[in-house]
Amino acid sequence: MRSILAGVGSYLPERIVTNDELARRLETSDSWIADRTGIRQRHIASDRETCAFMAAEASRAALRNAGAGPDDVDAIILATSTPDQAFPASALRVQAMLGVRHGFGFDLSAACTGFIYALSIADSMIRSGQIRGALVIGSELYSRIVNWQDRGTCVLFGDGAGAIFVRAGDRNDKRGVLSTHLHAQGTLGDILYVDGAVGRPDRPGHLVMNGREVFRHAVTRLAEAVEEALAANGLKRTDVDWLVPHQANRRIIEAMGRKLGLPPERVVITVDRHANTSAASVPLALDDAWRDGRIKRGDLVLLEALGGGLTWGSSLVRI
Ligand code: ACO
Repeated sequence: MRSILAGVGSYLPERIVTNDELARRLETSDSWIADRTGIRQRHIASDRETCAFMAAEASRAALRNAGAGPDDVDAIILATSTPDQAFPASALRVQAMLGVRHGFGFDLSAACTGFIYALSIADSMIRSGQIRGALVIGSELYSRIVNWQDRGTCVLFGDGAGAIFVRAGDRNDKRGVLSTHLHAQGTLGDILYVDGAVGRPDRPGHLVMNGREVFRHAVTRLAEAVEEALAANGLKRTDVDWLVPHQANRRIIEAMGRKLGLPPERVVITVDRHANTSAASVPLALDDAWRDGRIKRGDLVLLEALGGGLTWGSSLVRI
């Protein structure tokens, strides 16, 4: 079996907050944020736009795009660090919202790499014949966990959700997920973390980051993960049509594009409009380039991400 990427969808909250708007309540500026990160604006969720709500909207769009319906969904794997509740899993709220009446679902925590982890699990389950169709989702509301007094972190993030529907295809099909590559190093857990959770009521639960350390590891680890994906498939850098990276920072993204020897127009960038939406950023970027016709059937797409944990990973997908 091979996992075919049958449909893509996304959802962004209605409210857009520009850098200039942030600069009215924080000691920052559009030029500081844009020069260092490429970010110009971000979407911020309202109370109605919860993790499950946004995930369900993105999933509906992905199913529509795939020409599939609730009965085709055997598994819902939702990557998030900001679920609506400790339990039930937001994936199961999505199951109910979509009217899926069979199968199973769960939330997955791997910070910004969550979507690649979720894709890897769905792909393994499809390959093993355990399931035939899966929604793989990233949905995040970092606006709820950033410290809005900390200008060093709060300007970097935004809210949103992206989803894909993957289904079992023929082993001889050239399309589909070629491979996924997952990594983690728990000893680096303190360079990017949230200092609280439901089990720690004494803690505020704000995101804390050593930006320089994250930057340093991102460039090295992501380059390794990219090479690993190419080597695993006997492919060359020049075979890659599109790089769809995690959208943390324009400088990291451009460094990866240069390493691959890809011209800038072959690297999908949404960080300027979406900021960093953590596990949602890769499927949001994929949907952006899919909907405007840049990415087409048959294209070879390289996905990569790095986030808190430290976690990182990559995947090669023939669309
Ligand atoms: N506006 C104005 N000034 C600011 C702001 C702000 N929003 N934030 C920090 N500053 C100031 C600091 O106070 C500091 O001032 P000082 O020199 O007077 O002390 C100065 O700017 C430099 O601060 P640094 O934190 O050292 O800034 P740096 O140049 O490292 O840039 C950044 C920060 C953009 C986060 C950078 O470290 C980076 O790109 N890191 C990569 C990690 C990343 O992108 N993380 C996103 C999430 S993680 C992920 O998704 C993988």
